[in-house]
Amino acid sequence: MFHLEFKITGDNSHTLLVKELNETYHSTKGAINEALHVFMQRGLNDYIVKTNCKKLKVFEVGFGTGLNAHLAHLFAKQHQLKIDYISIEAHPLDLSIIQQLNYSELIPSEQSLFLKLHEVEWNKVVEIDEYFTLTKLHQELKDVVLENSIDVIFFDAFAPNIQPELWTKEVFESMFKALKPEGVLVTYCAKGVVKRTIKEVGFNLETLAGPPGKREMIRAVKVISE
Ligand SMILES: C[S@@+](CC[C@H](N)C(=O)[O-])C[C@H]1O[C@@H](n2cnc3c(N)ncnc32)[C@H](O)[C@@H]1O
Repeated sequence: MFHLEFKITGDNSHTLLVKELNETYHSTKGAINEALHVFMQRGLNDYIVKTNCKKLKVFEVGFGTGLNAHLAHLFAKQHQLKIDYISIEAHPLDLSIIQQLNYSELIPSEQSLFLKLHEVEWNKVVEIDEYFTLTKLHQELKDVVLENSIDVIFFDAFAPNIQPELWTKEVFESMFKALKPEGVLVTYCAKGVVKRTIKEVGFNLETLAGPPGKREMIRAVKVISE
């Protein structure tokens, strides 16, 4: 198991530093701001505005601290949506670490809602409430097979220089396959090599303004031409 250290990021929210990798779970410029901008705004919000859909399936790569899942749950409530949220995680964090994260002090919601996402069983579809079901898959991304069923992918793996095996053409081909037509993948990373790989796979690449402190982010759209 890795050694983890708590770090305060630019918006005062916590992230975790993996000491052995010298890599953090979120942007050091602001963990909550990054999650809100990349995944909620450019991912979920733009998608529901464009498609007008009220029921959607989200797939997340890397459940980690559960920050994205928690914000997506609150987003679903706020917008009266039904989200089926599937998140994959190879190395779940201990609850003792989760309990020390300061997200509930900064995000207006009850801490019990955040903790509930961590307390539910792995590898089971769990109804959190009328707006949100959560399926946490304790497995490796390479073992997931999804087809034509996902509306939005939150691609939140560690950076390509840390985990190059999660940013390959094969991985993005399987993400392309997982999405419905017009489905989108959003990621905080906008490295040239990632853009090229995403284009090669057949996605429509959109380079968008990044969260505070980051110039760019990527949205990849599964456009199916006639
Ligand atoms: C950048 S962190 C982000 C986590 C999370 N989205 C959050 O907000 O805390 C990347 C996550 O991917 C997980 N991970 C690493 N390799 C993986 C793999 N092969 N399959 C699934 N998850 C993996 C890590 O354990 C870590 O929790």
